[in-house]
Amino acid sequence: MDSKRVIIFDTTLRDGEQSPGCKMDVGGKIQIARQLVRLGVDVIEAGFPIASPGDFTSVQRISREVEGPIIAGLARTRPEDIKETIRALTGAPRPRIHTFVATSDIHMEKKLRKPPAEVVRMAVEAVERAKSFCDDVEFSPEDAARSGKDFLAEIVERVIEAGATTVNIPDTVGYSNPWEFGQLIEFLFERVPNISQAVVSVHCHNDLALAVANSLAGVMAGARQVEGCIIGIGERAGNAQLEAVVMNLVTRKDFFGFDIGVDTTQIGPTARLVASLINKQIPDTLPIVGASAFAHGAGIHQDGVIKDRRTYEIMTPKSVGWIGESLPLVKHSGRRALKDRLASLGYQFDDEVVDQIYGRFVELADLKTYVYNNDLHLIVQELRIRNEIRREKLFDLEDADIGYGPGYGAVTIRRNGQAFRAAGYGDGPFEALCKAIMAAITGHGEDLSALKLEGYDVIKGAGGPEAIAWVEVRVRLGDRLALGRSGDPDTIKASAKAFIYAINHLLQVPVAQLAAVL
Ligand code: KIV
Ligand code: ZN
Repeated sequence: MDSKRVIIFDTTLRDGEQSPGCKMDVGGKIQIARQLVRLGVDVIEAGFPIASPGDFTSVQRISREVEGPIIAGLARTRPEDIKETIRALTGAPRPRIHTFVATSDIHMEKKLRKPPAEVVRMAVEAVERAKSFCDDVEFSPEDAARSGKDFLAEIVERVIEAGATTVNIPDTVGYSNPWEFGQLIEFLFERVPNISQAVVSVHCHNDLALAVANSLAGVMAGARQVEGCIIGIGERAGNAQLEAVVMNLVTRKDFFGFDIGVDTTQIGPTARLVASLINKQIPDTLPIVGASAFAHGAGIHQDGVIKDRRTYEIMTPKSVGWIGESLPLVKHSGRRALKDRLASLGYQFDDEVVDQIYGRFVELADLKTYVYNNDLHLIVQELRIRNEIRREKLFDLEDADIGYGPGYGAVTIRRNGQAFRAAGYGDGPFEALCKAIMAAITGHGEDLSALKLEGYDVIKGAGGPEAIAWVEVRVRLGDRLALGRSGDPDTIKASAKAFIYAINHLLQVPVAQLAAVL
């Protein structure tokens, strides 16, 4: 292999899935594996076949259905693990058995309760057994970063002798740092006489937030395979974020000088797919793929980016398949910027309307720092609804017409000059007010009896009791969804108003326009 080529080994489906709350079903894993093919990773670790029937089936189906990369399955050194792994990998054009045993004193003594010589024997026998089924065998001395260096060198030499084609050096508990980890890899290159017969790999955990840095230090010291997970999921604080490893190697090729086979434009789609299948949000500030990764807030930065993106961007959003808003508005953005942004969203307002919107925009920017296009849609919607309530005689609910206590709520709803008063009871004041509102709006012509509260989010601003709570409510009536947003220092009142705005929205806005807002 070209010594400048770094192998990208993805373990999202194995180490990533081990992390609590990251469970994926077989169908989801196959979808991710197919996306990893588009991304261009070299190895997909598809699972740990002996761990569960679900893991076995995932490895088996990925082996049979996903073409391109090497498909790896994890196995302890036990013969039954190796056998199950090989059974699961049957059908893969390029299978790899990845076997491991712990080599640090604490793991050997407390977990395995085996002396070092026995651990070497287990490792060698496992590699030999795996090799009798499959040419491509990877061995990992678990907790290598905390293992005795001489012992590590010995076991690495012995497994290469036994046929291991890749030797992976894990920092299993994220204990190391780039200087130390780089030295460890250098030490192995110096000390292990047959090291050139195997690819040296690194596998770093992120307990001290150094997984990516440690992986790169490993590569600089001679490793030619890096293991990691999409969006950095994995045991505890996660594994090295694979897309960050990749973009370091690509963006700073001038420094690192290595080649990889990844199509970086597939990074965003891959990250979004993984996040959605494990039902998690990508953190805003996660490098490369987070919503803020290419968002510029400060006026000086925005100005620089408008003139030339390279002033504040070291890679382009397009090159990593990033979708988001790179120039969200902030509270200092000013009326002109707001008016331009509204126009770019299709709202041509005169200055008087922009002034009305501006007040709400500043309140929201104070709470959220960044105001995105979706926020603007919602502010415009609230303003329209308040204006149209008057013009089109929709349901109106003023602050003074909302009363509540624990488990009790009462409202006076106004429409067409008439007032309708109703009360309701519930577990909390918002539920009680929803019941009161539903009672007050019943019997005015529309059939709203099947209306359901579909979503309810509160963003409470910083500050004292006067801080504004912004509330978003989603309601559903059959297949129609509508949304209301309101702000008030009193969260419950904001909630009741958002609820009535959502009902008005549903009554008033044609289905096609609802789809555009939601
Ligand atoms: O972190 C670790 O040590 C592992 C091994 C199984 C490679 O995940
Ligand atoms: Zn791991």
